[in-house]
Amino acid sequence: MVETIEDRRSGGGAAAARPRGAARPQPLSSLGGSQAGRVHVPIEELDRVLGGGLVQGSLVLVGGDPGIGKSTLVLQAAASLAPSVGRVLYVSAEESAQQIKLRADRLGVNGDDLWVLSETDLTQVLATAEEQRPGLLIVDSIQTVAVEEISSAAGSVSQVRECTARLMEWAKPRGIPVMIIGHVTKEGTIAGPRVLEHMVDAVLYLEGDRHHQYRILRAVKNRFGSTDEVGVFEMADAGLREVRNPSEAFLEERDGAAAGSTVAVTVEGTRPILVEVQALTTSTAYGMPRRSANGFDTNRLQLLVAVLQKRVGLGLGTQDIYANVVGGLRIAEPAADLPVALAVASSFRDQPLQPGTVAIGEIGLAGELRSIGQVERRLQEAARLGFTRAILPAAIPRTDAMRSGLQITRAASVAEAIDAALG
Ligand code: TYD
Ligand code: MG
Repeated sequence: MVETIEDRRSGGGAAAARPRGAARPQPLSSLGGSQAGRVHVPIEELDRVLGGGLVQGSLVLVGGDPGIGKSTLVLQAAASLAPSVGRVLYVSAEESAQQIKLRADRLGVNGDDLWVLSETDLTQVLATAEEQRPGLLIVDSIQTVAVEEISSAAGSVSQVRECTARLMEWAKPRGIPVMIIGHVTKEGTIAGPRVLEHMVDAVLYLEGDRHHQYRILRAVKNRFGSTDEVGVFEMADAGLREVRNPSEAFLEERDGAAAGSTVAVTVEGTRPILVEVQALTTSTAYGMPRRSANGFDTNRLQLLVAVLQKRVGLGLGTQDIYANVVGGLRIAEPAADLPVALAVASSFRDQPLQPGTVAIGEIGLAGELRSIGQVERRLQEAARLGFTRAILPAAIPRTDAMRSGLQITRAASVAEAIDAALG
């Protein structure tokens, strides 16, 4: 059961006279350019995910697991934005001003334009913001602020919704951007109502494994830009550091001579990223074989294993299978099917891939390799990183694939691809 507070402002007949100040339609051609009112964020990885800057009056929700680095990212963003937007008001309902100061010292950020307020009452927050008129308002986190009028606790559905609505009502007419931090529940949605995601203009997720250094910032919704851009960061002693060259970073510790290791070329937005995919197969001790994937959909892994069993004849029925995308990146793209399948086959046969090989391709249920998009871009990135050979679906026209300088092997099925890769 969800408590809902009735909105007393609504009501009145549908055919009521136009209220004063109501919006009027305008011809599209008379409106200003779409780039108007964007503030460039000096942190380029963040700027790109936002769609090329922070839009005036927009509400941006930054979500992620506890401890992943949301406060760190937003504080760094605040500090970097202060010179261009003027005063930034950082409201923390979770930490004291002292704690924020400690973090800021660690990040090496300060400056007279960064103001902090430790407050949980949203009415007070808005009153202070109204007085201060900051160029950017930050609320950390939406689950810990509350308004008095609603009796339920902070973090409840009605509180989260009401607080967001009030922030929006305040920010829009004033043209002040607001960044809201939100925690993510175990199920992977931002705690509180789904409606929160509908209300804000952009939803960014900071993902990654808390125990690994890499963090991926992904836009899952953006009214002002594309949603498939990602930003890559590294958590270091002095906060989040941008990773300009993610492929190099993700492949840094790779041992190319190990069985069960392959390199996938995934495209995130417009950027090709090379990542290592690892698989391990071991005989099942008892009962049902286990299949577990990290950074890759487990159901997809099961499907690929089924294809390898049925179409390639690998005896995986009595094998536990683990697959891992190294570095904390999550790949949802079907182009990673082939590298995952090759990693499994390579581990099962205990035979490493030929050195310098990348593999790209979607796998169908008949064991056929299906073509994927942006081939040239992927191959160029692979060539840039010193790879010499690519295994591609045969369906990809030869001309496209040839320009990168890689030696291309085209395979029509997984079985052919395995033969080509393992020799
Ligand atoms: P934090 O931003 O507090 O996470 P969130 O707001 O998402 O809960 O950062 C959490 C972790 O980041 C913390 O466990 C320690 C680590 N960290 C660093 O490694 N280096 C740093 O400079 C900072 C500030 C944090
Ligand atoms: Mg925090």
